[in-house]
Amino acid sequence: MGDSEAAWRTIEARASGPALADLFAAEPDRVSRLTIEEAGIRFDFAKTHLDADLLGGFLKLATAMDFTAKRDALFAGEAVNVTEGRAAEHSAERGHGAPESVAIARGLHARMRALIDAIEAEAFGPVRHILHVGIGGSALGPNLLVDALGRDAGRYDVAIVSNVDGTALEDAFDRFDPGATLLVIASKTFTTTETMLNAASALAWMAESGIEDPYGRVVALTASPDAAVEWGVDETRVLPFSESVGGRYSLWSSIGFPAALALGWEAFEELLEGAAAMDRHFRLAPPEANAPLIAAFVDLYYAVVRRAETRAVFAYDERLRLLPSYLQQLEMESNGKSVNVEGEPIGRPSAPITWGGVGTDAQHAVFQLLHQGTHLVPVEFVAVTEPGHSLDEAHHRALLINCFAQGAALMAGKANPGDPARHYPGDRPSTTILLDRLDPGRLGALLAFYEQRVFANAVLLGINPFDQFGVELGKEIARSIEQEGTERFDASTRALIERALG
Ligand code: F6P
Repeated sequence: MGDSEAAWRTIEARASGPALADLFAAEPDRVSRLTIEEAGIRFDFAKTHLDADLLGGFLKLATAMDFTAKRDALFAGEAVNVTEGRAAEHSAERGHGAPESVAIARGLHARMRALIDAIEAEAFGPVRHILHVGIGGSALGPNLLVDALGRDAGRYDVAIVSNVDGTALEDAFDRFDPGATLLVIASKTFTTTETMLNAASALAWMAESGIEDPYGRVVALTASPDAAVEWGVDETRVLPFSESVGGRYSLWSSIGFPAALALGWEAFEELLEGAAAMDRHFRLAPPEANAPLIAAFVDLYYAVVRRAETRAVFAYDERLRLLPSYLQQLEMESNGKSVNVEGEPIGRPSAPITWGGVGTDAQHAVFQLLHQGTHLVPVEFVAVTEPGHSLDEAHHRALLINCFAQGAALMAGKANPGDPARHYPGDRPSTTILLDRLDPGRLGALLAFYEQRVFANAVLLGINPFDQFGVELGKEIARSIEQEGTERFDASTRALIERALG
């Protein structure tokens, strides 16, 4: 039995154990020991079943899995993405990485800034609307940033269109003046079907509206600059990023362009600085005080030992309403795997299904199951101390009180032996992440925390979090239906295609 199996035995012995209430009673200093403050964010893990014993087991697992060396390899720009033979250099975008990669990222950021300055100076004519087409990591990150921080920016109207369903694009056409629109094509590969089709339709919309040189109003964000130039984008308006920055980790690169334009360059820099602060914490904080690592211990405890198949994230702040969908890609596309880096079955559950919503809406929709259902769902609450609006403080007070009340209720439950329908079992775990304020720096730190937590989970399970071969088969089949017809497919698929497409 390897060292990691021995560590897992210790951890798995805790399939049952003290209830949360008992842990609180036994450990008077629980809150201070399991709360980490970093970069203006409080991470409270006290309402999870993590105790000294479990922590010890996970620390042994981290040692057995060579966590420190693998983290060093990530930041050194080594080829940690073993199946694709390349590095994963998103941290280099914010200054933590191999010196040559950091220098390249700085150069590319400078180029991005220069283009933003030119757009602001109306070098390409008036720009009021930004039509960004991209999908997956080329849309979710920028969309979250603009939605979370752009409410008061008032600089540009931004539409981020990902779906190939023309309705999405048409909604943007209805809102935007083609003569004042900048078309931003975001695609790491510059081959993604949805994005290329949306880009072509958006360009046609500009041309049909009488814009003389629609190509003159296009910017490309890509790791395949040659493909963008071939598509027709002028070289000076192609903002490249490194091949070693993964799609779902790319908002720090030129993929963040619409956010940098809409929020201003200073805000974008603050975002990078906040992320850099979290990187520093992840690199240097001791394991027992390392927020992404402790979060990964908690994730694995519930997914592997308690067999929780999902984890729920509720943003108790309207500005963070897109956080759950952003996290779905980050977590599920990274760690939704069945084999380890050696290609062998992991033998344990990997990433749970990430889902969630916004508080307080979710309380009136899905919390019934969380409090009384048969599934164990570890919950993550994300809240912000300072409100994002100027309405009466009663709003924010009610929002935060509801957030904290839910965590308390999940944990404490309420016995009602005579009336099972009104019995709340309690002992249901939650983590609370509390930001002092929602500003670019803190948001950057929060998103870097999630990235590094995904990495820590992957290392502890032996997964490569940086490839995503699972998404390829469906794309391949769609292509072959277009090219070769339906002959080789099953009767159900053939009948559906026949019925809908003739
Ligand atoms: O299909 C999955 C995926 O490759 C994601 O990993 C990526 O973020 C998305 O597609 C978009 O890819 P691209 O940026 O190359 O268009």
